[in-house]
Amino acid sequence: MPNVLSMDNMDNAVIMALLKRADEFEKGARSVQAGTAVNLFFEPSTRTKMSFEMAEHKLGMTVLPFETAASSILKGETLYDTVKTLEAIGVDAVVIRHEEEAYYEELVGCSVAVINGGDGSGQHPTQSLLDLLTIHQEFGRIEGIHVTIVGDIAHSRVAKSNASALEKLGAKVSFICPEEWSGDYQTSEKLDDFISDTDVVMMLRVQHERHAVSALFSKEDYHEKYGLTLERERKMKDSAIIMHPAPINRGVEIADSLVECERSRIFKQMANGVYVRMAVLEYAMKGRD
Ligand code: CP
Repeated sequence: MPNVLSMDNMDNAVIMALLKRADEFEKGARSVQAGTAVNLFFEPSTRTKMSFEMAEHKLGMTVLPFETAASSILKGETLYDTVKTLEAIGVDAVVIRHEEEAYYEELVGCSVAVINGGDGSGQHPTQSLLDLLTIHQEFGRIEGIHVTIVGDIAHSRVAKSNASALEKLGAKVSFICPEEWSGDYQTSEKLDDFISDTDVVMMLRVQHERHAVSALFSKEDYHEKYGLTLERERKMKDSAIIMHPAPINRGVEIADSLVECERSRIFKQMANGVYVRMAVLEYAMKGRD
C-alpha cells in the first residue's frame, strides 16, 4: 500500500505522475474510487482538511467524520491504537496532521494507507505537490526555475518538503530568513539581493504558535526586512509569480494588496490542492483495489 509521508523519499517519477494526474483532474477527468477515508487533524487546518474532504467526495469515497476532541484520544488512546481501530472497522485510508515530527514512523506496520497532512516542523508532502503543480502549470517545467523561499525556514514543513522536491527536480532554490530561523539551510538575510533574479517568490507564514516571534521583531520590522513589500514586488521579473501556502499574516509576510494581485497564485495553489489530493488518494488506494 503506497503511503504518502515525505517528499524526501518520493521518486521523481512518482512526483511527476501525481502532477500529471492532478492536471488531468483539473481538466475534468473523472475517477470513481471505492473505499473509506478518515481525516484525523490534531492541529488546526482549513485548506488541507477541507480540500482532502473535497477530494474524497469528488472521488466518491466514503468519508467518516473524526473529531479529535470527541474521540478516545482524550482518554489517553495512542495514535497507533486509534489508527489500528480505524483499520479494524474497515477504514482504507487515513489522512493525519499531527504536531509530532515523523509521527508516521510508528504506523509503518499498519495496512491502512497513511497520508501525511503535516507533521510538526517535519514535512507537508501534499502542500509541496500542489506547489509543484502550480509552478509546472505556470512555466511548463520545474528544472531551472529559480524559487526563493522566504521566512520561517527552520520551523516550516512547507520549506522542508519543497526544498527537497524542488532540488531533486532541478530547480534552483534560495532561502531568505533571519539567521535565527535558518536551521540546517544555507540562507541569506537579504531578500533584495534575490528579488529581481527569481521566478517564484514563495513567502512562508510566520509560525507564531511554534516560537515567540515578537521577541525578535515587531510585525512592521519583519515586513520591512523580510516581507514582500510593494517596493520589492515592483522589482520582480515580469514573468515572476508570488506563492504562499497560507494562512497568511497580511501585512507581515506580504503586503495586503499583493495577496490577490495579478502575479499572485495563492488562491490557485488552494484550488490545485483539491486536484493534487485526488491524485494522492487514488495513488494511495491503488494497492487496495
Ligand atoms: N497550507 C496549509 O496547510 O493550510 P492549513 O493549515 O489551513 O491546512
